[in-house]
Amino acid sequence: MGLMKINKWYSQLFLAVFLVSSSLSSQSISAIPEVEALLAKMTLEEKIGQLNLLTPGGGAATGAVVSKNVEAKIKAGQVGGLFGVAGPKKVRQAQEMAVHHSRLKIPLLIGSDVIHGYKTTYPLPLGLSCSWDMALIQKAARMAASEATADGIMWNFSPMVDIARDARWGRIAEGAGEDPYLGSAIAKAMVTGYQGKDLKASNTMLACVKHFALYGASEAGRDYHSVDMSKIKMFNQYLPPYKAAVDAGVASVMTSFNDVHGVPATGNKWLLNTLLRERWDFEGFVVSDYTSLNEMIAHGLGDLQAVSKLALKAGLDMDMVGEGFLTTLSKSVKEGKVSEAEVTQACRRVLHAKYQAGLFEDPFRYLDADRPEKEILTPKNRALARKLATRSFVLLKNHANILPIKKTTKIALLGPLADSRNNMLGTWAPTGNPEFAVTVLEGFKNVAPQATLLYAKGANISDDTDFAKKVNVFGPRIQIEKRSSDALLQEALEVAEKADVIVAVIGEATEMSGEAASRTDISIPESQKKLIRALVATSKPVALVLMSGRPLTIPEEFDLPVAILQVWHPGVEAGNAIADVVFGDYNPAGKLTATWPRNVGQIPIYHSIKNTGRPAPEGNFEKFKSNYLDVPNTPLLPFGYGLSYTTFEYSDLILEKNEIGHGERLELTVKLTNTGNFDGEEIVQLYLRDVVRSITPPKRELKGFQKVFLKKGEQKKVVLTLKPEDLKFYNGDLNFVSEPGEFEVFVGTNSDCSLKKTFTLK
Ligand code: BGC
Repeated sequence: MGLMKINKWYSQLFLAVFLVSSSLSSQSISAIPEVEALLAKMTLEEKIGQLNLLTPGGGAATGAVVSKNVEAKIKAGQVGGLFGVAGPKKVRQAQEMAVHHSRLKIPLLIGSDVIHGYKTTYPLPLGLSCSWDMALIQKAARMAASEATADGIMWNFSPMVDIARDARWGRIAEGAGEDPYLGSAIAKAMVTGYQGKDLKASNTMLACVKHFALYGASEAGRDYHSVDMSKIKMFNQYLPPYKAAVDAGVASVMTSFNDVHGVPATGNKWLLNTLLRERWDFEGFVVSDYTSLNEMIAHGLGDLQAVSKLALKAGLDMDMVGEGFLTTLSKSVKEGKVSEAEVTQACRRVLHAKYQAGLFEDPFRYLDADRPEKEILTPKNRALARKLATRSFVLLKNHANILPIKKTTKIALLGPLADSRNNMLGTWAPTGNPEFAVTVLEGFKNVAPQATLLYAKGANISDDTDFAKKVNVFGPRIQIEKRSSDALLQEALEVAEKADVIVAVIGEATEMSGEAASRTDISIPESQKKLIRALVATSKPVALVLMSGRPLTIPEEFDLPVAILQVWHPGVEAGNAIADVVFGDYNPAGKLTATWPRNVGQIPIYHSIKNTGRPAPEGNFEKFKSNYLDVPNTPLLPFGYGLSYTTFEYSDLILEKNEIGHGERLELTVKLTNTGNFDGEEIVQLYLRDVVRSITPPKRELKGFQKVFLKKGEQKKVVLTLKPEDLKFYNGDLNFVSEPGEFEVFVGTNSDCSLKKTFTLK
């Protein structure tokens, strides 16, 4: 059927049925006449079909199941959406099955995990968050949406905004780190970037904020594990980024695998209805995570019929892969366990999304066969990915200003990640292709063709074959050489001997972090530690380029006389971006968005901790105080930390007033001077402490930041503003309030900064 015909068909349907159906309750979401007309036409089975999201395989399946008989189900009107299908040709085939062969011709929603770029993979989200650059993050999301929609996808399972304070959890890589204030700003930037101003435009896509809720607080950092948290902590620390996404107009929400207050999120009525819909006024639709509905059986909440009923009644609209809705809801309606109105309401929300995406007007609007070639992996997009990568790097240490390196140097480029293409994209890049990634070796050659480059691998990422097998599920990431580790090391030392500077690219393989990639030991694997020790023993200058999807424990390496540049997994332009920074074409300015602990025993560790009744003394251990026998309470590297090739000095913190009234803003200024030898950017950070509260306050909380560029020797007055809501918190009754009294403001280069002023809220 041609496009015109479909349009005509829908308008006729609309005319015929709208009047009859206009009395149908839309229960809190605004009625769309076309959708109501369609609903009135649908059988119970067809409505249930819309609640079914399948994946035919071919993409990265993240559960045990891949959907079967997808084609027959689409034609039978049993499928509302698909994911894991891409490209105008394939999506068209699927869409035609629905639009030409099913009775009501309802188009499919086509989803995908476009987590950090579509084919132009940019740094993994934890890395990107270290840029603290909202305009750039929004631009990144915009580029991802343009590429994904060019390939026929109009629904993105992103942003992932789970606050994570436990680096053992592999999925810390997918989010923006530990802080709700920064996390909220990033959530908003990403939703805005994906969705744009007009969801019907052929280059915008519906966003899906995930994983609602609290997934990042899985006990002991083990993936899919239980979560148990007070409501005060939830509201103040964990929920704000999801709410920010909802406030930014996110079209859909994905539930999390974990339980929240005893009930798995997918069947949690308080979460999906009371909080999300009633309190936050969310009007979009809710999708489960991959088989998370069925997994409620293992959680201990009954059989498939029982958990499907629970989920529908809780407010879940779409069931991902598990087919619990498809196979049990009709029976439950017949048995009077759920009402048809409840099914209709879920269906209405799914249809609304299709309407919002413009699919009823033109189900093929995202399927222009010429677009992929013109719009995906273009030089312009790659240039943006390269820029994003350089902005995500964090200079952790720069002993004796080893970095930047002159382009004419004789360099020994060593380490298992120095010439690895497979490990550049990072976890959760299922739409990217590692073959297009630039290795570090290639990047060095591109950026510094004058340099003399000597390469040796030096070590395996890990020598442990069992470990490698688990990490290599999506392809070879850890490749263990036939040569002995001693032979690898020997070769590297011979190469190092001939060079003036050593650059060692080390750290985690891509799949050492990410989903189902939790670690109890988050240090650099022993095989690489040996290499680092031997390189430092040569007494040549050593720069470590450290890759990982999480904070690592590096107390030993941090104590060595080395430079350490943390580059996460930088994406498709990895090598070029690393070379840009190593050779000083760009001066790094990234700041950590998750605290780096001294050891795993300190976890959970984050900057907005509370004081105890027995605060630890600074420095030394004291009996009967809240401290450890073996390490200080402080982390190795605090939240907000990151160096530059230049140095910055903060002075003259001035508050506009010492006293403000309720609802008033407060302006602060601070003088920032570039005191070093390079032009550079600094991320000025503002932390607040509410000295006395009705519930115990955190010691400090991030409440403002600004990225400032200064030429060397330049000085600027930086203005920051505290808004009334920055003083607010959720109190014991979960009301969002500010309480009169004294506040302390800290401004500086990281969360440990000491420039301080106080003011009073009347
Ligand atoms: C992940 C989600 C993802 C989904 C679909 C799940 O395993 O938890 O983040 O969106 O798979 O790929």
